[in-house]
Amino acid sequence: MKALVLSGGAGTRLRPITHTSAKQLVPVANKPILFYGLEAIAAADIVEVGMIVGETAKEIEQAVGDGSDFGLKVTYIPQSAPLGLAHAVLIAREFLGDDDFVMYLGDNFVFGGITDLVDEFRKDKPDAQILLTRVPDPTAFGVAVLDEKGQVVGLEEKPERPRSDLAVVGVYLFTPGVHEAVRSIEVSPRGELEITDAIQWMIDRQHDVRSTVISGYWKDTGNVTDMLEVNRTLLEGLEPRIEGFVDAESEIIGRVRIDAGAEVRGSRIVGPVVIGPGSVVVDSYVGPSTSIAENCLIRNSEIEFSIVLRDSSFDSIRRIEASLIGRNVTVTLSPRVPATHRLVIGDHGRVQISS
Ligand code: G1P
Repeated sequence: MKALVLSGGAGTRLRPITHTSAKQLVPVANKPILFYGLEAIAAADIVEVGMIVGETAKEIEQAVGDGSDFGLKVTYIPQSAPLGLAHAVLIAREFLGDDDFVMYLGDNFVFGGITDLVDEFRKDKPDAQILLTRVPDPTAFGVAVLDEKGQVVGLEEKPERPRSDLAVVGVYLFTPGVHEAVRSIEVSPRGELEITDAIQWMIDRQHDVRSTVISGYWKDTGNVTDMLEVNRTLLEGLEPRIEGFVDAESEIIGRVRIDAGAEVRGSRIVGPVVIGPGSVVVDSYVGPSTSIAENCLIRNSEIEFSIVLRDSSFDSIRRIEASLIGRNVTVTLSPRVPATHRLVIGDHGRVQISS
């Protein structure tokens, strides 16, 4: 069995972060989201991984390499433009050969991994198996309709009027039967070859398409809100560990990981929080559900429920909440007079100012 991991896509909903970096590499709990998926694949005893890459190919290759750090063997498959999930299967034909495979969307997060699912598929061998989960607003997803036996009878991509609340999760299992399907479908109104259409094609031809409704946690981390939510969930399971320096004036409460080379002085850290190597927190408050990456400086500031990427700094700022901060960002207090906000913000940045 092989895996096909999709790591292309423009990541428009995570701009401006994704102007300079791939959406799959945005860290949650200080680790790129993509790495959780690769670890889940390795845990399911899959070794050969085809990685579909687009514009951000170089960065993905730099981060993942040949896959050996994960116990995987990675082959890169360039996709000229984000033409859809079924298009990704189409261009991976040679890599996939006649093997069964799991297709995994690199920006999806499935809490608890995929091992049980892959084992079930290996045992039962349906033509395809999809994962579903109930969501409050299915219009942003592929939506499935099941019959009374749980067999998938219909699939629609981002319907305006969804016929169920069962969203298609970005992990799919296929036998080679899918190749004829992806060759047979037409481009959708949004200009993509949709995997939902390919699966519908299989259903229409009486292929055995099964589904598993997961009650566990799943997120498509395409936007900031979901990213913060995954970060919060991951931090809840954080192994507390203080390897960096904490002075006697500081107070550390709850699940907190302070990596080697980090420093905390005169500050109050209320977990779950992770502070990456080389980061310095001085005279500050860092509150629950916050991940601070490496080489950041938080001075005389308060921050909570946020993700801060590497090499960024806050000086005399209160208070930051529900924020995603990119790399090399500097936030400082402006002089008292004139009382103005001075902003240098990247394209597609979003700022909410409280005064
Ligand atoms: C894709 C699929 C959709 C699925 C979703 C899961 O959507 O087309 O059916 O529900 O992934 O993340 P996209 O990310 O292309 O909008």
